[in-house]
Amino acid sequence: MPEYYDTETQLNEYLVFHYGDDSQVLGWGFGPVEALGFHKRLIGWIDVGQLQPGSRALDLGCAVGRITFELSKFCESVVGIDASKSFVARADLIKGSGTVSLRLMREGNLGTPVEVQLPADLARERVTFLHGDAENLSASLGKFDVVILANLLDRVAHPRKVLQKLPEITRSGAQVIICSPFTWWDDFTNPEERLGGFVRDGKEVTSMETITEMLSDSFDPPVVGDEPFLIRQHERKFFMSVAHVGRWTRK
Ligand SMILES: C[S@@+](CC[C@H](N)C(=O)[O-])C[C@H]1O[C@@H](n2cnc3c(N)ncnc32)[C@H](O)[C@@H]1O
Repeated sequence: MPEYYDTETQLNEYLVFHYGDDSQVLGWGFGPVEALGFHKRLIGWIDVGQLQPGSRALDLGCAVGRITFELSKFCESVVGIDASKSFVARADLIKGSGTVSLRLMREGNLGTPVEVQLPADLARERVTFLHGDAENLSASLGKFDVVILANLLDRVAHPRKVLQKLPEITRSGAQVIICSPFTWWDDFTNPEERLGGFVRDGKEVTSMETITEMLSDSFDPPVVGDEPFLIRQHERKFFMSVAHVGRWTRK
């Protein structure tokens, strides 16, 4: 359901999620503060010491681009790909201007327009945004040293197709970071295409187990953990999720 993300409401929620500072996202003296700053925390999963000069990164399902920009701190070139035209168009605008215009919604149609500057340590000139389909990547993209799939797999129709491509698009030693709360929805992924969340042959299957099994021929066993994140709907309503995270290294 690619059009799900092509609305003004989703666009603004993702701009706030990616670029709002902590007090703009959660304007209260209480609440789940550890869930703030998700995109910067996720980048912390990369073992920067293993990266070689000239490294290339890919952010699949980049939305409005925060992870893509964060990767520019230590990768020489970064490609962000997303199926939503409005997300990619806005990410491109941010690349050009270094400024993010968003609205901090309060109640109903009430909201405060805010301009946020992209942090100066992000190298915008290293970043390219492309409109595209993670299930059908062009061969011309080449190979990468870092690939991030953040909260993507439970939003595509054929997650196995995305995973099957990973050996082909990664160099030896590449780091692949996959995370998701694995909120499987029929609107995005038919039950028979899901990676986990069901019982098969009398055994419970989780998405992380299936991913690890699928990648085991080409990648070393993952380092795994949990990262919370918070999406602000409006001043008084939030969605908190906990992504299951794994980092795989290409053999
Ligand atoms: C839940 S959002 C996650 C965005 C971002 N990675 C993050 O963690 O903030 C899922 C994103 O995947 C994108 N997406 C869904 N299906 C896709 C596909 N087949 N190819 C590329 N992007 C896709 C959506 O447009 C959306 O931006």
